[in-house]
Amino acid sequence: MNKQTTEHPSNDNTDSASPTFADIYQSSIHDREQFWAKQAERIYWHKQPEQILDDSNLPFAKWFVGGETNLCYNCVDRHLPERAEQDAFIWLSSEINQELTETFTGITDAFKELDNNVEFYTDYTKRRLTYNALYKEVNYFADVLQRRGVGKGDRVIIYMPMILEAAYAMLACARIGAIHSVVFGGFAAHNLAIRMDDAEAKMVITVDAGLRGGKVINYKNLVNQGVEQATNKPETVLVVNRGILPFKAQTIDVDYATERRQSCDANAVVEPVWLESNEPSYLLYTSGTTGTPKGVQRDVGGHAVALTTSMDYVYNGKAGETFWAISDIGWAVGHSYTIYAPLLAGMTSVMYEGLPHRPNPGIWWRIVEANKVNILFTAPTGVRMLKKQDETWMTRYDVSSLKTFFLAGEPLDESTANWLTKYLGVPILDHYWQTETGWPILSNTPKFDHKAHKQGSPGYPMYGYEAHVLNEETGEPCAAGEKGLLAIKAPLPPGCLTTVWRNDERFMSSYFKLFDNKQYSTSDYAVMDEEGYFYILGRTDDVINVAGHRLGTQEIEEAISTHPEMAECAVVGIKDELKGELPIAFCVLRDHAQVADTENRFRLEQQIIGAVVKSLGGIARPAAVYFPQALPKTRSGKILRRAIRALAENQPTGDMSTLDNPTAIDAVKQSMKDY
Ligand code: PRX
Repeated sequence: MNKQTTEHPSNDNTDSASPTFADIYQSSIHDREQFWAKQAERIYWHKQPEQILDDSNLPFAKWFVGGETNLCYNCVDRHLPERAEQDAFIWLSSEINQELTETFTGITDAFKELDNNVEFYTDYTKRRLTYNALYKEVNYFADVLQRRGVGKGDRVIIYMPMILEAAYAMLACARIGAIHSVVFGGFAAHNLAIRMDDAEAKMVITVDAGLRGGKVINYKNLVNQGVEQATNKPETVLVVNRGILPFKAQTIDVDYATERRQSCDANAVVEPVWLESNEPSYLLYTSGTTGTPKGVQRDVGGHAVALTTSMDYVYNGKAGETFWAISDIGWAVGHSYTIYAPLLAGMTSVMYEGLPHRPNPGIWWRIVEANKVNILFTAPTGVRMLKKQDETWMTRYDVSSLKTFFLAGEPLDESTANWLTKYLGVPILDHYWQTETGWPILSNTPKFDHKAHKQGSPGYPMYGYEAHVLNEETGEPCAAGEKGLLAIKAPLPPGCLTTVWRNDERFMSSYFKLFDNKQYSTSDYAVMDEEGYFYILGRTDDVINVAGHRLGTQEIEEAISTHPEMAECAVVGIKDELKGELPIAFCVLRDHAQVADTENRFRLEQQIIGAVVKSLGGIARPAAVYFPQALPKTRSGKILRRAIRALAENQPTGDMSTLDNPTAIDAVKQSMKDY
């Protein structure tokens, strides 16, 4: 077999006037600075960069050094001359409908206060927001932030459901140079508290409540608990009151509607703060193998250039078209492709509050039809959920506006891909990236390639990424067909994380140490075929992927360990048809006899699940809790999670002869039989 190169598949684009993807890729690697200088022309610079790349201190890379720009200006103001009356956002909520507004009467009042442009239907509520209206709202929001003492460099935690005010909050932070950190709504108080502490947040922005599948989620209460648990308390909690759940205001609470009225009456305009390209724009915490979540830090200029370029080269999205990334804003996909990239590119972005199958499994397609969505992006789990429903919903709406459907975040299985192809008849494209990179590492490129993508492969390396499959031990490139670690040669291209918040050491040790600071390790195993297509084979670490959401098993173990009767525990992810993976817990009690009694075992199980949900949110809920008498360990005392996982999935464990406690294997097997 040939040693691999960074060549990637040629394509069928025979138009000699336009470059092929191969040309683009090669120039991004071999004429790196020229390539990115050209891409930088896609955005507005208040001051042009003096240097395209400073790679004098790798693995730290600085892009567009000395350039000054503003993300919010590029997302909003810049489009006003040409597209003031074009929709910037179409917000849809299938959680709020006509009927519900009768139950929660405060909702209608809240909408009236904030925006009259709302349409209620029997199955959803819709709000349209032009670029002009967005400009105004973002200015009001920025004015509110400034009045409340938030300025350049301050950290602001945003803990909100999928509502437009969350988008204003993010963009307003970007406008004034404040650093936002959005926390996923499915996370609980403990998660909030660690982020408040690590980021030393000055403000938290939240809502009274959210709705998920009709169930009310008390955001405000979770924030109160988070503030209580945090060592670093925010000065202010800004509350967008949606009129869903009455709450008792705390002394640090500030009502957004009251503040906004003041800014609106004053017609507030806040000048964008021009930031040097490498200053931080936002933090997004993500799970790693060890310790607290890492604050992935993104810059300003590189981020704007990378996302604008990706909207063109990867997604083939054009100004005026409609893009719908079905993702929570608390995840990287929501940041990059619900908020920033569509706006940077002058597109209309759909923001959806709701589930894929409520009020019926046709809701996605009804939204596509009614809003002429051109490009869709989501994680495979949502699609698998639809696959289990009445399939006639797949053909009730006209989805001919769709050009492409992108999927990422977890493996796309063949049957789901085929199922979508059958009904939609557009390219169903798997692609691969990470919170850390902020935009695709591997993808297909419909703008350039007309050749068929390969089933099971998220594609080939995108421009700017010198991606290889490397031998974990030697660091040498693997031959085609040979499994190794997916790595990217430093420097990472613009838009990727620049460091871990206030922890350069962790940035290096988490991502670059393995290959001598020369390569970024994705922590994913992969293989490349003879034609340069990559295949992802799973994580190398103890990170699991539940419904496209990344969770560190250690965080779940920590939550379980708070139980007073716990001696030790191990959490592993097992395969699940719907959600990709599910966490299951193996708990060794101080007194194993406790589980002899079925009722007592049930009580313990519920308490353990409760501790996880309370600490980390429902997303981390263990699907099963087992009580072995011991866990298999190496001689150095390390719990062998891989062996436990193999046992849980009924797979061979490999050679266990070097175990410190070989009988633990039987103990784990027995615990599953007891269940
Ligand atoms: O293990 C890979 C998996 O999800 C991880 C990144 O998750 P997150 O940081 O939440 O970012 C998601 C952004 C789309 C990766 O390390 N992953 C992501 N995409 C794919 C995937 N696994 C298989 N196939 C994919 N297309």
